[in-house]
Amino acid sequence: MLNEALRYVEQNRERFLEEYKEFLRIPSVSTDEAHRPDIQRAAAWVADQLQQIGMERVEIYPTPRHPIVYGEWLKAGSARPTVLIYGHYDVQPADPLEEWQSPPFEPTIRGENIYARGASDMKGQVMLTLKALEALAQTGGLPIHVKVLIEGEEEIGSPSLEAFLRSHQEMLRCDFSLNPDAGMLGADLPTITYGLRGLAYFELRVYGPAQDLHSGVYGGAVHNPAQALVELLAGMHDAKGRVTLPGFYDAVRPLSAEERAELARLPLDEAFFLQQTGAPALYGEAGYTVVERVGARPTLDINGLKAGFINSGAKTVLPAMALAKISMRLVPDQDPQEVHQQLRRYLEERAPATIRWELIAMHGSRPTISRRDTPWVRALSQAMEAVYGRKPYFRREGGSIPVVAQLQDILGVESVITGFGLPDDNLHAPNEKQNLPNWYRGIETILRFLTVLGEANV
Ligand code: BES
Ligand code: MN
Repeated sequence: MLNEALRYVEQNRERFLEEYKEFLRIPSVSTDEAHRPDIQRAAAWVADQLQQIGMERVEIYPTPRHPIVYGEWLKAGSARPTVLIYGHYDVQPADPLEEWQSPPFEPTIRGENIYARGASDMKGQVMLTLKALEALAQTGGLPIHVKVLIEGEEEIGSPSLEAFLRSHQEMLRCDFSLNPDAGMLGADLPTITYGLRGLAYFELRVYGPAQDLHSGVYGGAVHNPAQALVELLAGMHDAKGRVTLPGFYDAVRPLSAEERAELARLPLDEAFFLQQTGAPALYGEAGYTVVERVGARPTLDINGLKAGFINSGAKTVLPAMALAKISMRLVPDQDPQEVHQQLRRYLEERAPATIRWELIAMHGSRPTISRRDTPWVRALSQAMEAVYGRKPYFRREGGSIPVVAQLQDILGVESVITGFGLPDDNLHAPNEKQNLPNWYRGIETILRFLTVLGEANV
């Protein structure tokens, strides 16, 4: 059966790629209301794929924002485990558009890579998983029970998913979840992600005078909100790169000596981060390696700033308002609601009486650690070894995927987190791409993973 499925993949390589391109042409940007029809189209397109695979109970469930697509195949026999495969069909906005070498929603192949928004995060991962299912379904059937849930709100924090999981617990019951929304350490370095950081995202607005003022006539009379904002922001880190919000580190689980030793063995040194980022030097919390700082330590980032006159030329103005988008990446056992209160307390303590401020909490996701001593992780390791000729690396990832904590809490289910994207795929950035040879290896890995599970006694 395995050989037949592999042959099916070989024979359908070109069609698989064409369908992947079709999916990439749909600009399903979840944060932008103008793309609502494209979101609907992407959901329908995914549902159609599930139908073609032969999945049953395929349905598009509306939510307050973007629909969830579901389908299942439960004909593997009573002794077989059930996997809930998670994915998202939404993507991040494509801007800045002028930085793209080919249009973001016209998938273009250059060399070994396919370029488009979502090529890696995560339409590529969704497609390779669906194609593994198709190959198995068309050559004798799926080796284990499979439920598929593909949502359209991951890139905006999965706000509707929690309620959906709660109200569909029976339908979604499973032994574990497969989540291919992470990536690999490098082209030949298969990876299983066992930790994800959480996220808390805010907008901070600082108000001063009732309207913009002439900076000569009134400069010296009032506190400039842009200045007050950057003073507040600058105070959020100390000289050692630590976050100064009151109590910020209280809930942070310290790293054990074993885990530090293990993370130190990952092939990710300072040179790698310098090369990937192009920054002149690295920066971060003193006392921790870069791998620890991005995977296992919390951070605070200014994602954007807006104030005053930013067009070409010079205008002498004292702006009435200044705004910052701030996010924090969280690690166990920090909680998005708690850091919200810590940020509020910081502002209450530090904000001067010369300004007014407003803090808006935008979205949050809890940090997770996933178990590694499970039959699912062992089966995936085995499949990766067969395809890549080496055992996978285990890493803690700095990015966030809200569903993982939601599944732990609501269904009591662990996620096996993996993926076939590379560190230089330009996620959320211009010229996002997916390496195609690795995309095909991904199909084979998922196919073998499910086959191993169908044979194992789990
Ligand atoms: N797939 C990413 C997360 C990711 C990236 C995991 C790289 C592992 C490696 C996901 O789609 C994402 O970008 N999530 C957002 C979460 C958010 C908006 C709640 C993130 O991390 O910014
Ligand atoms: Mn993603």
